Amino acid sequence: MKKVILTGDRPTGRLHIGHYVGSLKNRVALQNTGKYEPYIMIADQQALTDNARDPEKIRNSLVQVALDYLAVGIDPAKSTIFIQSQIPALTELTSYYLNLVTVSRLERNPTVKAEIQQKNFERSIPAGFFVYPVSQAADITAFKANLVPVGDDQEPMLEQAREIVRSFNTIYKKKILVEPEGIFPPKGEGRLPGLDGNAKMSKSLGNCIYLSDDADTLHKKIMSMYTDSEHIHVEDPGKIKGNMVFTYLDVFDDDKQKVAELKEHYQKGGLGDVKIKRYLNEVLEAQLGPIRKRRMAFAQDLPAVYDLLQKGSQKANAVAEQTLAEVRAAIGVNYFG
Ligand code: TRP
Repeated sequence: MKKVILTGDRPTGRLHIGHYVGSLKNRVALQNTGKYEPYIMIADQQALTDNARDPEKIRNSLVQVALDYLAVGIDPAKSTIFIQSQIPALTELTSYYLNLVTVSRLERNPTVKAEIQQKNFERSIPAGFFVYPVSQAADITAFKANLVPVGDDQEPMLEQAREIVRSFNTIYKKKILVEPEGIFPPKGEGRLPGLDGNAKMSKSLGNCIYLSDDADTLHKKIMSMYTDSEHIHVEDPGKIKGNMVFTYLDVFDDDKQKVAELKEHYQKGGLGDVKIKRYLNEVLEAQLGPIRKRRMAFAQDLPAVYDLLQKGSQKANAVAEQTLAEVRAAIGVNYFG
């Protein structure tokens, strides 16, 4: 049997090139090995846990995320793309799993802790948000996923899911649920910094390049990138460390020798910011141009996109229902034949 991969994203906005290098690219590669059965979930319910008052944002972002997936090469013939809210079994599984988890255990989740601070929830944390790691365990176990490719920040979610699996299988004396393993980006490659040099590319910081940006926008954003604030004149020696143009070239340019030469020249002096930015623009345009083109083609026919999301959700629903039936039987909440 092929190993099952499950992963997903919250639809709170369009996806950016940080998502691309941090996870989307790897998902496509895993998909194309043909060795796995990948499920890719658009986590609209999880997104609602901290956006309950702004459902339009989630609804609109959902189709944008689907377009981003298709644009980068996630192929619905090879990967099942589905929508979390369309799988009722996930919610029922969550309710059983909640009984296996303590409040203090949830309070200790470092990712949730950090998000609570970031979102300024303080004392008014939505209960649904607080328990989302349990719902995420339902997402993963419903598909008996073996592998979960995610960013480093998701490790606590996987640990929580494994704990629930172990508790469940022990308490109900059935080996129904499968312990998931994370697949993480190589050290130091997980997180692309923002255009402004901030450690994180994020919508709320306004420092992103989106997969959907047109060529003009891409060019403008690159021209505004943070380089070295002390590199005033072309002939001045420039710094590489913390210089976003070189950070991005390291990530996106396969011509490592050329990058090494540019770095040397820049450090010596005599290489201007405009030149290196133009070069980065070429490198990025070569990769993002085809993605943008595919995205536009899919965007021409949104009914077809919704249709494939519906088909994917139907397929995912059947799998999750099967797991739910096994879970109900193990607990003994199956009374009628
Ligand atoms: N929490 C993930 C994120 O914010 C999204 C997600 C929801 C997910 N359910 C999942 C990821 C299950 C992997 C597996 O990016």
